[in-house]
Amino acid sequence: MAIAVRQFDAVVVGAGGSGLRAALELAEANLRVAVLSKVFPTRSHTVAAQGGVSASLGNEEEDNWHWHMYDTVKGSDYLGDQDAIEFMCRKANEVVYELEHFGMPFDRLDNGKIYQRPFGGHTRNYGERAIKRACAAADRTGHAMLHTLYQRNLRAHTQFFVEWMALDLIRDQDGDVLGVIALEMETGEVMIFQSKATLLATGGAGRIYAASTNAFINTGDGLGMVARAGMPLEDMEFWQFHPTGVAGAGVLITEGVRGEGGFLLNKNGERFMERYAPTVKDLASRDVVSRAMATEIKEGRGAGKDADHILLKLDHLGPEVINKRLPGIREIAIKFANVDPVKEPIPVVPTCHYQMGGIPTNVQGQVVMPDGAGGEKIVRGVYAAGECACVSVHGANRLGTNSLLDLLVFGKSAGEQIVADLKGGRAAKDLPKDAGEGAVARLAQLDGATSGESVAQVGADMRRVMQLHCGVFRFPDSLAAGVRKILEIAERAKHLCIKDKSKVFNTARLEALELHNLVETAVSTMISAEARTESRGAHDRSDFSDRDDVNWLKHTLWYKEGNRLDYKPVKLKPLTVEAFEPKARVY
Ligand code: FUM
Repeated sequence: MAIAVRQFDAVVVGAGGSGLRAALELAEANLRVAVLSKVFPTRSHTVAAQGGVSASLGNEEEDNWHWHMYDTVKGSDYLGDQDAIEFMCRKANEVVYELEHFGMPFDRLDNGKIYQRPFGGHTRNYGERAIKRACAAADRTGHAMLHTLYQRNLRAHTQFFVEWMALDLIRDQDGDVLGVIALEMETGEVMIFQSKATLLATGGAGRIYAASTNAFINTGDGLGMVARAGMPLEDMEFWQFHPTGVAGAGVLITEGVRGEGGFLLNKNGERFMERYAPTVKDLASRDVVSRAMATEIKEGRGAGKDADHILLKLDHLGPEVINKRLPGIREIAIKFANVDPVKEPIPVVPTCHYQMGGIPTNVQGQVVMPDGAGGEKIVRGVYAAGECACVSVHGANRLGTNSLLDLLVFGKSAGEQIVADLKGGRAAKDLPKDAGEGAVARLAQLDGATSGESVAQVGADMRRVMQLHCGVFRFPDSLAAGVRKILEIAERAKHLCIKDKSKVFNTARLEALELHNLVETAVSTMISAEARTESRGAHDRSDFSDRDDVNWLKHTLWYKEGNRLDYKPVKLKPLTVEAFEPKARVY
């Protein structure tokens, strides 16, 4: 079958914060850029980010990027690459001021400067006490940021392909990436977007878990595409559980609540974080707070009739602060928990929120992989930024508000790198003869299947297995069983059947294709987690309860073919400053 082809200088897959920031760089450099998005751009998941974007502006109190860097390295449990972390923290003020000049409606102090609030793991003077570093637009920072970047892209004439889902990368015999094959959701038509540069900005895959703060669109599409194209995924065992998802609903309640002075209580009314993190208490990093909450529940001190959640108290802040700084939270609590936080605490539980691992990249967003001779090579033509990428600045645990910063810093630097590569004269290559055939075959298989399982059934089983076998606490037998079960699910996902095709819309096919990507993500997670025999950051094993810097200061690389694992060392050397040597992590 001949597949229609359109040619662009650059294709960006995903219209969240990193995709839009990169696209802006490309469009302003007068490149022909196409942005593909499964949803209208301002509905991308960045819209759900609440509490803020970190930068050491020092608007409220003294701050500097070196303190921010220290907090990020420590937050990562020393798995983050210190060169990349220095790069990000040093760039933070620049990208936030740039956003301000794009028109971002930040909250303001009386002196007109950007308002900043405390957030978990961010401290003054290398851990002394919590610091105000999160630049916020009430509790809708991601919403404001996404709209600002979208408007700016419209001004730069970026071309959007809305409700298009990218299916697979196109890679030639040299290993170069020459674009993507994508499907138009309304018509079901497929088209090849041929390009000299392809940027994956597809976000996370938090929908592999049953309880998740993530949008339904977060299905790891970029991860699936990369895995099928023969490239590895890095550090997939590290998933962040946000301490405060609404119990039973999963919707995010921002850490900004605790930044504004809210705190957690167990069923006895005890402020238990004082025991787990005596210095910063409720503002310890997320892995620490989530584990503390899970321990309280496990040991019978959970609240409610089933003793299965923790209470987030904020009524003492008063209606004025809540309505001004946390209006969205009040609305969410009323709608999803049936409590008005002005009067009552919100029932919360740790909920899957963020994927620290992803597509291996350098700080310019170029996708890298082992060169077979002990080093790394750049894969020509493909880039990644944002949650789908692993630079790695978050290591084993991300600090809140460093995600929006990551989108801005690495979206911009990937955009700049693509402009440099293309202005440097990269020529368009011919498409391979079989371009897109793998994706077309997957579609044909789905369309032709007359027997097999439903997407809903296989997807539900996958989410259950991930939740049960690879959650906040991980146990050896359970991980081993998890590997067996997830591989069985991967097998079942090859034989999906869309029943009664005359009655379903194209979305049923999309859900099947999304499940293919989710399953790649889930398999890589479970296999990487079972192999890492230590506890670090968000990866907490009952049989190896300590961090093991002798054997495990290394990043995992998982390959789809044969479910093979490989490792590469953590970059402990920063760009210009002394390294932060690994030490015990206390808050
Ligand atoms: O709690 C929050 O507002 C989430 C922020 C983040 O994940 O960075």
